[in-house]
Amino acid sequence: MTHHDRLLIIDFGSQVTQLIARRLRELNVYCEIHPYNRVDDAFLKAFAPKAVILSGGPASVYWENAPMPPAGVFSMGVPLLGICYGQQVMMHSLGGHVEGGHGTAEFGRAFVTPTADRLPLLEGWFEAGTEQVWMSHGDHVSKIAPGFQVYGTSPNAPFAITADVARQFYAVQFHPEVHHTPKGAQLYENFVRLAGFKGDWTMGAYREEAIRKIREQVGDQKVICGLSGGVDSSVAAVLIHEAIGDQLTCVFVDHGLLRLGEAEQVVTMFRDHYNMPLIHADESALFLGALEGVSDPEVKRKTIGRLFIDVFQKHATAVGGAKFLAQGTLYPDVIESVSFSGGPSVTIKSHHNVGGLPEKMGLKLVEPLRELFKDEVRALGRELGLPPSFIGRHPFPGPGLAIRCPGEITSEKLDILRKADAVYIDQIRRHGLYDDIWQAFAAILPMKTVGVMGDGRTYDYALALRAVTSVDGMTADYYPFTHEFLGETATRIINEVKGVNRVFYDCTSKPPGTIELE
Ligand code: XMP
Repeated sequence: MTHHDRLLIIDFGSQVTQLIARRLRELNVYCEIHPYNRVDDAFLKAFAPKAVILSGGPASVYWENAPMPPAGVFSMGVPLLGICYGQQVMMHSLGGHVEGGHGTAEFGRAFVTPTADRLPLLEGWFEAGTEQVWMSHGDHVSKIAPGFQVYGTSPNAPFAITADVARQFYAVQFHPEVHHTPKGAQLYENFVRLAGFKGDWTMGAYREEAIRKIREQVGDQKVICGLSGGVDSSVAAVLIHEAIGDQLTCVFVDHGLLRLGEAEQVVTMFRDHYNMPLIHADESALFLGALEGVSDPEVKRKTIGRLFIDVFQKHATAVGGAKFLAQGTLYPDVIESVSFSGGPSVTIKSHHNVGGLPEKMGLKLVEPLRELFKDEVRALGRELGLPPSFIGRHPFPGPGLAIRCPGEITSEKLDILRKADAVYIDQIRRHGLYDDIWQAFAAILPMKTVGVMGDGRTYDYALALRAVTSVDGMTADYYPFTHEFLGETATRIINEVKGVNRVFYDCTSKPPGTIELE
């Protein structure tokens, strides 16, 4: 956002560059990550950073065509911090020397010892002698550049911490952004303080500026927004509504595959509490009709995706004259990543909730969360007054319960699944576990089993319960409930939900499993 101090992270392709941005955002510093090959002197001038960080990366500075920042970065007069490959880039560019291999590679934990001189960047470090850091380098600096001095060494990195204090150029061999460098956050805090950042990039400020930008972009035109009830689209809708009021219409497509009471909750909250124009498109008959007899997971997903777009378009057209489509796209979806593996050098990930629609309907996008990480979206939601229980909700997939009902979907099965899922989630909440778990849900299995209840034989459905911990859904571990919890939950479900006589707990991690069953 324009009037804040801005920090530029030049990305050389490290796996952990995003973590640098996370650490800085935690300090209320606005930063952007840009790949090195998109940053030239003109870009630097236009971006006008108050400080620059050169990230790590897998290349070697002595490669032909090694990735380099524009020369101008060293003559801008702003503080620089080079990390790992970024340190090597600084040394190589400023008259030092970098060498490869020779048994000095370091991966993992290392301990840095201070030299005699104190460096303000290291305030709070070395109180108990050495500090643990996380290294991941093959090459190493063998001669530091003129003007630099060494402030910390490790057994395999004699130049672990170096600086040219007069120019405020700092260069470290390790990665302070990862948690395995326990004092890393302190190093970033010192860096931004020394660079003069005020730490004024707060959610309150973000909210005000985002509202101003939305008004500028949209003018007096109409905007439509697909509301799923998930955190991202909800926060985007509330923010846009605050900016432009009833120029916004939300379309909530109810495909009949939602959880117990979910449609009512979403409609009540947005229509009654926030007074938003909201179309509740109850299209469950259409979706469930089209899914009748379908058991192949891919056919289910494609059917739902296609109908969703048709339905959304129908209602969006009915709003009349909307020129913009609002989406809850997040920053990780738009960061361009550096690729060294051939093919196009830059991959752009873009995320379209209603893929293809903007082009088809000639709509422009409003994406007010494009600069935020997921936890920042939650913070913005809190700032906007969304209820905490809503903000902390587990993710729910677009195809809904369809992919938690392997095999054919029937109204009977969906009904059983909704009730069982509600009991399971209630159990998790009662035991105070909801916020420790990334996602939890029940799935109804495509089989019946024999049981005995009272004096009678039963022949009912079996359920699978799933609960995982994860950071981003890409990998996941199953949640280690106690046996007591599992036993109590199975008993409650079987007693409270007619049609279920057996409960399994899924203890597969991802990989090899996926989180959803289909
Ligand atoms: P999987 O099952 O692939 O799920 O391990 C990873 C995460 O993604 C969610 N998921 C979806 N979300 N549309 C969505 O919006 C989908 O089609 C979809 N499929 C899976 C899933 O709930 C989990 O959080």
